[in-house]
Amino acid sequence: MDIKAKMNRKFRDLQGGLFLSVTKADVGEGAGNFQKAGGDVMAWADPFFPDPSIPASVQKAMLDAVQSGLPSHYSMPIGAYELREALAKRVSGRIGRTLDPSRNVIVTPGSDSGLLYAMMPFLCEGDEVLVPDPSYPSNFLNPKLLDAVTVPVPLYAEDNWQFRIEEFEKRLTPRTKMVLISHPNNPTTTVFRRESLEALCRFIVEHDLILVCDQAFEDHIFDGIEFVAPCTLPGMWERTLTVCSMSKGYGLSGFRIGYIYADDHIMDVLYGGAVNVLGAACTVTTLGAVAALNDDTILPEYRERLDRRRTLAYDILSTTPGVSMRKSESGILSWLDVHRLGTSEEVADYLMQHANVMVNQGVPYGSQGAGWIRIVTACFARDEDAALRFERIKAALTELAKQKGIV
Ligand SMILES: Cc1ncc(COP(=O)(O)O)c(C=O)c1O
Repeated sequence: MDIKAKMNRKFRDLQGGLFLSVTKADVGEGAGNFQKAGGDVMAWADPFFPDPSIPASVQKAMLDAVQSGLPSHYSMPIGAYELREALAKRVSGRIGRTLDPSRNVIVTPGSDSGLLYAMMPFLCEGDEVLVPDPSYPSNFLNPKLLDAVTVPVPLYAEDNWQFRIEEFEKRLTPRTKMVLISHPNNPTTTVFRRESLEALCRFIVEHDLILVCDQAFEDHIFDGIEFVAPCTLPGMWERTLTVCSMSKGYGLSGFRIGYIYADDHIMDVLYGGAVNVLGAACTVTTLGAVAALNDDTILPEYRERLDRRRTLAYDILSTTPGVSMRKSESGILSWLDVHRLGTSEEVADYLMQHANVMVNQGVPYGSQGAGWIRIVTACFARDEDAALRFERIKAALTELAKQKGIV
């Protein structure tokens, strides 16, 4: 029987790595098997992975909660009030608008589910979604899962991966419904600058579009670069869904806590479908997330550590023959131009074989990622452990450069 013929066409082409190998490190058993065999996975955007990283205040809150026995029960489908309240307070301080925890915030089990849910109310068959390329791989797939059409909009290394508005304009059609961005961007770490965002938002307002803005990496921006939330720009609040996460900034990816904030006319619909689409977030990690948000020491300490780490990564990796890269502007990643050494697939495979490290090929981030690789340079709690892997990567790539006659 051709079971796939019975499937909804949106799902028919998905591959989990059971029959054909898949290039993405987050699909199937590939990364897990590599790790079991002693390899280092530096391909999941997860700070300090695989080392333990729950802050003491958060551990205590969760242990107390477990001992009380109460977290056996559901949280509210829209998220526990205490968590929405803590999130509303934090976001209100950041965006200069007072959010109502009962009208503007919803908790999601991780921001991946939040991203899909944010698009669901808007996308109909054939609607077009403009997605910068490169960008987070889910941004290319999610619109398709909702019957819409993903329209990649190229970004360019020579622009430091900022938007070129004419590239958006060129791709505008009567079916364009939405713009979907990750800001700061993954994999490039780019923080979109005010003028770039202002131009994009003028385009969005002028053409009456919706913006879904994934801000999973907003917590750690370096070099004093200004972070502008697009929902604060003129005409944007009522048409923007901002999707955020506790995974990256707080290093709590295993908690599966994300959230969306938006205008109450949008939020009413998201509250209405929450139980069907999201279920509810985990109760015990909800309590841990509240403790994390109430502990003002965590983010500054992590920012200092992550800043040190990106510098370490840059100092070691940027001096590798055949590699060029910029110092990361945000977060936990490094994005390396390796085209002189081979395709991104060849270089990533080479690193698995010769450095025992799994990194990300650039191509799943869009066609502009060809010739690039992404490394999660914030892996490992200690700088020494990370440096060891950076040196191993450098040694392996230096050998490859020799083979290519580059050194
Ligand atoms: C840009 C971006 N957005 C969202 C997510 C989803 O993170 P989570 O579901 O852990 O909140 C990721 C995960 O890697 C990401 O890189």
